Amino acid sequence: MNDTILILGACGQIGTELTQKLRKIYGDQQVIASDIREGQKEFLNSGPFEIINAMDKDAILEVVKKYKVTQVYLMAAMLSATAEKVPLKAWDLNMQSLLHVLELAKDMHIKKVYWPSSIAVFGSTSPKINTPQQTITEPSTVYGISKVSGEHWCNYYHNKYGVDVRSLRYPGIISWKTKPGGGTTDYAVDIYFKAKEEGAYECFLGEDTNLPMMYMEDAINATIQIMQAPQENIKIRTSYNLAAMSFTPKVIAEEIQKYIPEFKITYAPDFRQEIADSWPQIIDDTPAREDWGWKHAFDLELMTKEMLRNIQPTTNELLKVL
Ligand code: SER
Repeated sequence: MNDTILILGACGQIGTELTQKLRKIYGDQQVIASDIREGQKEFLNSGPFEIINAMDKDAILEVVKKYKVTQVYLMAAMLSATAEKVPLKAWDLNMQSLLHVLELAKDMHIKKVYWPSSIAVFGSTSPKINTPQQTITEPSTVYGISKVSGEHWCNYYHNKYGVDVRSLRYPGIISWKTKPGGGTTDYAVDIYFKAKEEGAYECFLGEDTNLPMMYMEDAINATIQIMQAPQENIKIRTSYNLAAMSFTPKVIAEEIQKYIPEFKITYAPDFRQEIADSWPQIIDDTPAREDWGWKHAFDLELMTKEMLRNIQPTTNELLKVL
């Protein structure tokens, strides 16, 4: 394996764990982490790190040349809830960064590109149950508009210029190492931290809001698996539906209560409810399973055990106990 990988947005929720896993597979020096600012120290020290603004094409090209980068994972993006507050800024970041990377691939500076899409490409006119790979995509959020447009750009660069770009429509991703920022599905991460630290959580979505979700380990495995799959297995160049589980805030709370019986959840839906209501509830990811062998490992039960085992009480909590 002679690949050298650049990760843009390496300090984010997915970027952090993706960098760690790719360094294990390809070697620390072969994986260049980059972000607009520095992130966790231990992780920066485990291999090369560069400050890059993903909207600066020259800066990306400079690092690509410096390390002879062959693959780029573009993980920098503004998520759904934040993007609604600054729509044009979100559009600029999410689109420009993608077009820069696709252009670099078109001009043969890099060989392969990974770019994440999202369940946010779907809107209220899409089927909500078993949402198929190909269906109506009329998103109501600026994040969704940027993702559906990005998918078409990926497909266009592949068909027109032969760019090897691969993409997944992530559901909500749940992790304990790095928290997400600005997403509508973030409640499903916050709830575990609050359950462990305070024994109570006020949820910004209503109790019956069913959304597709996935544990981080599965998301990372899917990402690396699609990137390592033989070219001929990648039959969809917009973005693949990807699924593992779906649950509501009420159901996840009940699962947590199995381990923390005194855990209390209350509901105070805000503007994010409308976003969640426009998204699918259960995704059909048959093509990903058939084309390149996708298989998830974590369900709600297993994920809850992992999350609660790994989240440590904060220092404040420790002090209270002592
Ligand atoms: N998790 C993302 C969000 O909530 C969806 O891709 O914005």
